[in-house]
Amino acid sequence: MARPVTTIEDLRIKAKRRVPKMFYDYADSGSWTETTYRANETDFAAIRLRQRVAVDMRNRSLASTMAGQPVSMPVALAPTGLTGMQHADGEILAAKAAEKAGIPFTLSTMSICSIEDVAEHTTRPFWFQLYVMKDRAFARALMDRAKAAGCSALVLTLDLQVLGQRHKDIVNGLTTPPKPTLANILNLATKPHWCLGMLGTNRRTFRNIAGHAEGVSDMSSLSAWTAEQFDPALSWDDVKEIKDYWGGTLILKGILDAEDARNAAASGADAIIVSNHGGRQLDGALSSIAALPAIVEAVGERIEVLMDGGVRTGQDVLKAVALGAKGVFIGRAFLYGLGAGGQAGVEKAIEIIAKELDVTMALCGHRDIGNVGKEILVPGTYPT
Ligand code: FNR
Repeated sequence: MARPVTTIEDLRIKAKRRVPKMFYDYADSGSWTETTYRANETDFAAIRLRQRVAVDMRNRSLASTMAGQPVSMPVALAPTGLTGMQHADGEILAAKAAEKAGIPFTLSTMSICSIEDVAEHTTRPFWFQLYVMKDRAFARALMDRAKAAGCSALVLTLDLQVLGQRHKDIVNGLTTPPKPTLANILNLATKPHWCLGMLGTNRRTFRNIAGHAEGVSDMSSLSAWTAEQFDPALSWDDVKEIKDYWGGTLILKGILDAEDARNAAASGADAIIVSNHGGRQLDGALSSIAALPAIVEAVGERIEVLMDGGVRTGQDVLKAVALGAKGVFIGRAFLYGLGAGGQAGVEKAIEIIAKELDVTMALCGHRDIGNVGKEILVPGTYPT
């Protein structure tokens, strides 16, 4: 009998077996030496929790809000590119799992399934992530489509003006869909579930940017397209312009520095995400959890602070909340679930994190996530 899945690590191992190597590696890697990628997880693990006893732990609640929207727990699915390559129709399946769990799903600009594909298969508003493109008309067209689909927040990613150095993708010759080379054919032959799924869908390339990215399929054409399209001259005035055009809830993603956080708060956005893009952009940057306290201190009174990077357990969620995050995003944790078992796998990932969060909160002596603060952490073990 198969061993039961009890952790996100179990899902990662299953995903590695089921997903073609180039797409598994695309998810489970960081930039350059992967120092920041690793630190995102190890810095969480170094924080110690205070165990409390003889406290009434009945009737617990994880319910909260993120960017003003009710959530069953303070966790959202992060925008991730090529999600439909971890599993056929991946974005649709992840959005459905998030909807079922009562947490937000964020669709990436670089998704395989389009805004319209996801809207057609879901009933609740999802969030849309935008990269700032030089072609402002194209960016506005994407925002128009997101508005038409009923997206209830725009997540504007600021930390990819220039693409980080992702060596694994270059070595693997990442393409979408995979090219029929001998190595790929041999690898795909060991991934029957994935292949069957792909045969059953027509969503195999970047559908949001279709028409704007003819010929973009491999890593070098994607890098060239990114360099040509993404705006290396992006300024806070551009952020304000996008905010005015969007007109709704705006979340700025990729803030890692207190000074940038002050500028973000001044831009009039509703929330920021403390993030280093999951260790995929500036290698050598601080881990997100290490960067969080100074940012909360700088702007926590003025703007909602969210975070992502390295969250693999419900304990990590609680630690981030204790250090002042109103909520967290998970990237790889749900991608592993998706690769391991489609929608059911994402549901499992969310269930694992919710359960760990609930039990840990109780054993730290709290019943309501809204009341959790630094008092649950052992002094000297957490970043300040
Ligand atoms: C990402 N991330 C990302 N962010 C973004 O704003 N737009 C995007 O298209 C992508 N694409 C993407 C692909 C993959 C495979 C990963 C793993 C990540 C970053 C993502 O939103 C988030 O910041 C990190 O995933 C958080 O770190 P963890 O939870 O993966 O450790």
